[in-house]
Amino acid sequence: MTTPYQRKDHDSVSDDVVWHNSTVTHEDRVIQKGQKPVILWFTGLSGSGKSTVANAVESKLMQMAKHSYLLDGDNVRHGLNKDLGFSDADRIENIRRIGEVAKLFVDAGNIVLTAFISPFISDRQQVRELVTEGEFIEVFVDTPLDVCEARDPKGLYKKARAGEIKHFTGIDSEYQAPVNPEIHLKTADLNIEACADFVVAELEKKGYLQLGEQH
Ligand code: ADX
Repeated sequence: MTTPYQRKDHDSVSDDVVWHNSTVTHEDRVIQKGQKPVILWFTGLSGSGKSTVANAVESKLMQMAKHSYLLDGDNVRHGLNKDLGFSDADRIENIRRIGEVAKLFVDAGNIVLTAFISPFISDRQQVRELVTEGEFIEVFVDTPLDVCEARDPKGLYKKARAGEIKHFTGIDSEYQAPVNPEIHLKTADLNIEACADFVVAELEKKGYLQLGEQH
């Protein structure tokens, strides 16, 4: 039997590796948690505010007794993805792995927030296709490059401009903005708190925060 949570890309998997259905089902986990699991995929330039807004959203979800987990670019690159750099190929692999991890969190019934630059449209699309329709919400943290560069919280833009960091997103590596994101946050117009309130309100409106409602 196949389930929506079964891998779709069996091409590279050996025939000797067989999918094993777990005794506790996805539906059991969803009912236990009383929410609709979803990936909230934050994308934007370095310094755009992805992590800050995602953290604020997660705090609000915690206050509402919702079950969530935040996967953050800088943190995941210290562990799971510490073997990856910032070449196009490594960024693609970074996002592929995060997509698979996010899918597991969704299978477990969680609201998973991810905060990665994820600069390529095709990679974000691939993650969207890993899960069932309605389980992927793209959140574009739309902060212009000049604002990110003026903030430069980690001093990385300065280094990139000085040629000390190569392949820096927005400087000498491309960022492909979402064409039609489910949520579009213009951080120049809204503060962090307002951005987080907006995201939570959208989740509420679309019926993710309780069971039994239509998306
Ligand atoms: S992604 O492009 O592969 O999605 P990810 O979100 O994991 O990137 O990591 C981005 C973070 O790594 C940035 O916020 C920044 O702190 C750091 N970083 C280090 N080098 C680079 C670089 N060349 N380009 C972008 N970010 C970099």
